[in-house]
Amino acid sequence: MDISFLADRPEFINTLAPWVYEYWRPLLPQDTLAARIAKFQTHLNHQTLPIAWVAHDRSQVFGTAALRADDLPSHKNLSPWLGGVFVAPQFRRRGIGSALCSMVEQQAKHLHGVTTLYLFTLDKQHWYSSLGWSLFEPCRWCGQAGDILFKKLRAD
Ligand SMILES: CC(C)(COP(=O)(O)OP(=O)(O)OC[C@H]1O[C@@H](n2cnc3c(N)ncnc32)[C@H](O)[C@@H]1OP(=O)(O)O)[C@@H](O)C(=O)NCCC(=O)NCCS
Repeated sequence: MDISFLADRPEFINTLAPWVYEYWRPLLPQDTLAARIAKFQTHLNHQTLPIAWVAHDRSQVFGTAALRADDLPSHKNLSPWLGGVFVAPQFRRRGIGSALCSMVEQQAKHLHGVTTLYLFTLDKQHWYSSLGWSLFEPCRWCGQAGDILFKKLRAD
């Protein structure tokens, strides 16, 4: 498996966008596939946030994750964020999600000088906790209760 900038494999948007659109559709009924594609296209960057990465082999994409300056409209005071973490169901539980998160953390720390990274999750608190994330504060999104988590990125 490789992890690349989405900017280097933009063709994977055609696979990723329907996956992510279908996953979040119950909570975002106003969302459209076109809007999802457009959002991925804003992440086709190497240096300027937002930046997305993709886990893939030669021709198949497995999942994605992003580094964003902001993620929750209610918390623009916090930055930057790990967001857009998604691995397709058939590729889960083999370490791809944790590898994507690790890539975002490494790039945030080494290329962007980030010392504290945030994320929002509705239901993956246990998994992120196993990756070293801690509770920052509870937060609601789309009428659902979730949590903002944070992680201090230590120098190696
Ligand atoms: C959350 C998500 C990204 C995790 O992706 P993943 O690729 O399955 O993540 P990992 O494989 O790194 O870890 C998942 C579990 O598999 C386990 N695992 C990792 N490698 C494994 C292996 N080789 N064999 C067995 N289990 C393994 C991990 O320990 C972890 O266990 P846990 O859930 O008990 O902590 C994925 O489930 C997903 O896309 N969910 C839907 C979208 C979502 O909720 N995104 C997060 C939004 S905040």
